[in-house]
Amino acid sequence: MNGPALKTALPGPQAKALIERDAKVVSTSYTRDYPLVMARGEGALVEDVDGNVFLDCTAGIAVTSTGHSHPDVVQAIIDQSKKFLHMSGTDFYYEPQVRLGEELSAIAPMPGPHRSFFGNSGTEANEAAIKLARYYTKRQNIIAFFGAFHGRSMGSLSLTASKLTQRRGFAPFVPGVFHAPYANCYRCPIGLNPDTCAAECLRFIEEQLFVHLVHPEDVAAIVVEPIQGEGGYVVPPNLFHERLREIASKFGMLLIVDEVQSGMGRTGKMFAIEHTGVTPDVVTMAKGIASGLPLGVMTSRSEIVSWPPGTHASTFGGNPVSCAASLATLKLLRDSLVKNAEVVGTHMFAGVKALMDKHSIIGDVRGRGLMIGVELVRDRQTKERATTERDRVVHECFRRGLLVLGAGQNAIRLSPPLVLTTAQADTAIRILDEAFSSVRP
Ligand SMILES: Cc1ncc(COP(=O)(O)O)c(C=O)c1O
Repeated sequence: MNGPALKTALPGPQAKALIERDAKVVSTSYTRDYPLVMARGEGALVEDVDGNVFLDCTAGIAVTSTGHSHPDVVQAIIDQSKKFLHMSGTDFYYEPQVRLGEELSAIAPMPGPHRSFFGNSGTEANEAAIKLARYYTKRQNIIAFFGAFHGRSMGSLSLTASKLTQRRGFAPFVPGVFHAPYANCYRCPIGLNPDTCAAECLRFIEEQLFVHLVHPEDVAAIVVEPIQGEGGYVVPPNLFHERLREIASKFGMLLIVDEVQSGMGRTGKMFAIEHTGVTPDVVTMAKGIASGLPLGVMTSRSEIVSWPPGTHASTFGGNPVSCAASLATLKLLRDSLVKNAEVVGTHMFAGVKALMDKHSIIGDVRGRGLMIGVELVRDRQTKERATTERDRVVHECFRRGLLVLGAGQNAIRLSPPLVLTTAQADTAIRILDEAFSSVRP
């Protein structure tokens, strides 16, 4: 497959027909930003039902880490499918789940021994982490952050504080969740200068939360994304995570890092928290862990994951086919793709950053590896959010054969498959350049 290469106006006739059928039977809650109807994929390329080929800088929301339908992953899925599809790893034993537990223990970003809990999605991994933290510490409360996204089931949703639509109409939430400011240094929540600041937004936790609202010894865990994903690809300074670790350790809370979006090699290290040198107590994973098959995992130290039988489980969690896909994915990540994310990511970051000289609409470019955010503003001085312009840029990219997604109110996220080549990164940058030119604030 070569591309991008467009054959029809978008959406083409086949795509239009399918979108009409979709509108009648599929939940209206999904956010489709543009009419892409997928037919097949290969590496970082996607072909739609009308034969148009797109360069994919979404990876299906950071999921297809090894590219679309990587042959090794497909083979692993076929091999496992021929043996058995399901037996429930919560009631019985099978090797792929055990082996995956062993391999995750080998790469976990904290000292072992470890045990893993297997679910089907990011939100389930986080639900498991929340429940484990309450059970283990015998405390009720959780600290999360403004701008965070941890999922949409009720426990995770109670921690999520990204877009209001995600919460509005769904209260009451799980009680005992307190939100604190995240270190978004481009828009410092307390108006300080990042060059001289020592993660002072965290003083809110110690000087406000712990004084007025909740005793620190009643807090089970701090849950944090190493890099905020859905919230706008916000990269905090390392000191932010270091100080969180100090607070958690000082008061006996668990530090839970949600690596659902930032993990599995995307940032040029297996886990984004590894860039900071901070050791968490619990890590949650999903998305890129199985190249597209549903799998969510929570890993922690064995002494913490020692809850008795029956306390938590999932019928489908740790499905053997998903585990097989994950084992093949981890091998590819280790062998070359984590490195590729670093190398191509560095190249892509520089290319996107250089666009700032031409396009004043770009307020900030940030990220690590192939997790790159571009924040759009109407004015670099006032930083007024270019919200509608962001949506238009996303559309203009689509019209030119590049798939990107928004993040936060006014950022674009670049989260391609980790097989992206330097040449493909250059193509993406060229199309972004054109898209920015067509959208002036
Ligand atoms: C950081 C983070 N945590 C959790 C989730 C929820 O994952 P899922 O949609 O698989 O439930 C997401 C999804 O975007 C995410 O980005």
